[in-house]
Amino acid sequence: MAEKSTTPPIHTIVNLDFYLGEVEKTQTKPIRPPIAKKIRVGLDLGTSSIVLVVLTEDGVPLGLARREASVVKDGLVVDFSGARAISQKLREELEKRLEVKLPQAALAVPPGTGERDKATHGYVGQAAGLEPTGIFDEPLAANLLLGLKDGALADLGGGTTGVAVFRSGKMVLSFDEPTGGYHMSLVIAGNLKIPLERAEAFKLDPKNRPEVAPMIAPVLSKMGQILAQGLKKQNVPSVFLVGGSAMAPGAAQIIAKETGLEVKAAPRSDLITPVGIALACEPFCPQLL
Ligand SMILES: Nc1ncnc2c1ncn2[C@@H]1O[C@H](COP(=O)(O)OP(=O)(O)OP(=O)(O)O)[C@@H](O)[C@H]1O
Ligand SMILES: [Mg+2]
Repeated sequence: MAEKSTTPPIHTIVNLDFYLGEVEKTQTKPIRPPIAKKIRVGLDLGTSSIVLVVLTEDGVPLGLARREASVVKDGLVVDFSGARAISQKLREELEKRLEVKLPQAALAVPPGTGERDKATHGYVGQAAGLEPTGIFDEPLAANLLLGLKDGALADLGGGTTGVAVFRSGKMVLSFDEPTGGYHMSLVIAGNLKIPLERAEAFKLDPKNRPEVAPMIAPVLSKMGQILAQGLKKQNVPSVFLVGGSAMAPGAAQIIAKETGLEVKAAPRSDLITPVGIALACEPFCPQLL
């Protein structure tokens, strides 16, 4: 498997909110890659979903495909054949819609993932027909989009909270703790005495936000404490929230309160890491199907 672990080039998208909106649109309205433009592909194997993103070499969004999945836990692939099957489906779906072959992709793992587990992510990509161009650290990939020079980034995901500190644009610290959106859904299930799947749907329904906010506040406080503890001696001015759980009601306010740091967030924070992974991909010439 071709794996490059060199620091990828930095791409900073100026108007992040607008850009993420454009990325989201390509889920329903994919754009065929312009002839003579190289493309980049990113595969995000997450705890709650698998996401495949296709961009032009310059980062223009072309396609997004996503499927709920429970094949990764705490950053580790726990269901290899499930992860392969879903990744392959997403590849085939986007190939059909974009009318080009997608033979390779960048992948990423949470901070602190061991070499073996990192390799397993690569094998999933490979088995799904997406030869890895590299397997990157998730925060490093996310920061290709954000371009943080000095500050912290927190990925509030489905299963984990990943944290990274950047100084002069270089990642100097990263760690990952197993608290995420899954734990919020568990708390809701317990409070409302409903099954976990219903609790997840309840959490995501915008009209339930006022009821959800107080129930999940303790989980967000715990995430904030994880950040506060890890960033205690780091003297960072701010923390940028990425990951789907950063969209939970009260997330930014509670993290700000627990850490005492300025908090920055983007409306489609769940797309930042998948797009960053695509930006980390070595660009290649698309071939017609
Ligand atoms: N609007 C929302 N309000 C609350 N939670 C949300 C919202 N949107 C998404 N989530 C939660 O975000 C989580 C998914 O986030 P994300 O896609 O970043 O996770 P992941 O990459 O699959 O997980 P991980 O990075 O931990 O492996 C889920 O728990 C989901 O319920
Ligand atoms: Mg993630």
